[in-house]
Amino acid sequence: MARVALVTGGTRGIGHAISVALKNAGYRVAASYAGNDAAAQQFQVETGIPVYKFDVSNYEASEAAIKQVEKDIGPIDVLVNNAGITKDTMFHKMTKEHWDAVIGTNLNGLFNVTRPVWEGMRNRKFGRVINISSINGQKGQMGQVNYSASKAGDIGFTKALAQEGARAGITVNVICPGYIATEMVKAIPQDVLDKSILPFIPVGRLGEPSEIARCVVFLASDDAGFITGATISANGGQYFA
Ligand code: CAA
Repeated sequence: MARVALVTGGTRGIGHAISVALKNAGYRVAASYAGNDAAAQQFQVETGIPVYKFDVSNYEASEAAIKQVEKDIGPIDVLVNNAGITKDTMFHKMTKEHWDAVIGTNLNGLFNVTRPVWEGMRNRKFGRVINISSINGQKGQMGQVNYSASKAGDIGFTKALAQEGARAGITVNVICPGYIATEMVKAIPQDVLDKSILPFIPVGRLGEPSEIARCVVFLASDDAGFITGATISANGGQYFA
């Protein structure tokens, strides 16, 4: 029986590419989303991948939705914690709402979604948890104190949980994408992108979502069973960590 994968934020951006790549690799995939119904419906029609609407920053909603996914498709073997948001602004203009929203989704979301699948993975003695952090969790980024803190937290989460999962056959890894051609990056003011970001990417271009998706497919596979607690940087040479 094909393994089951849940991709949070799996209908748009990097998550869209991950959902499709896992489906093409033979997984039974579920994709979650939080708000954009039109994009999710279009994704479901185009890919045939079922979508589940819940907010990863809400524990009860996440737990209930995961129960539903497991009832509909089967126990989750592969969890990709991809859902993430930005609320970029300089720290002197950052509000508590900017802070709470980003920490709630990008960091608390890892607890809220991983905790409900963890015991099942332990009992079945197999699991793959793949967290999507960011280059900006590794190096910090002006205008992103909230985002950088949340994404650095995702790396710590990964390293701690990997130690707990190892003896139960569960690997936990984190991918740190650099600047990838998605709506999130296209929202950056063009002059900032041209002047302050692109010149510092040695390969001279943004990354493609499919380049992150291929890393996920590898980490999910049996071939990657000896890799756990690892931080995989995929950033075009912008930062070596
Ligand atoms: N890297 C380097 N310098 C940056 C920068 C960046 N990412 N973002 C802004 N700056 C620089 C600007 O070039 C500008 O420099 P000058 O004063 O020399 O012109 C200075 O900081 C101030 O920038 P703004 O004039 O734009 O200031 P603002 O207050 O109007 O806006 C901002 C601030 C909201 C942070 C805006 O600059 C911005 O959106 N920057 C992009 C921040 C960023 O990199 N976000 C990543 C989004 S993608 C993502 O998060 C995915 C991922 O994981 C990589």
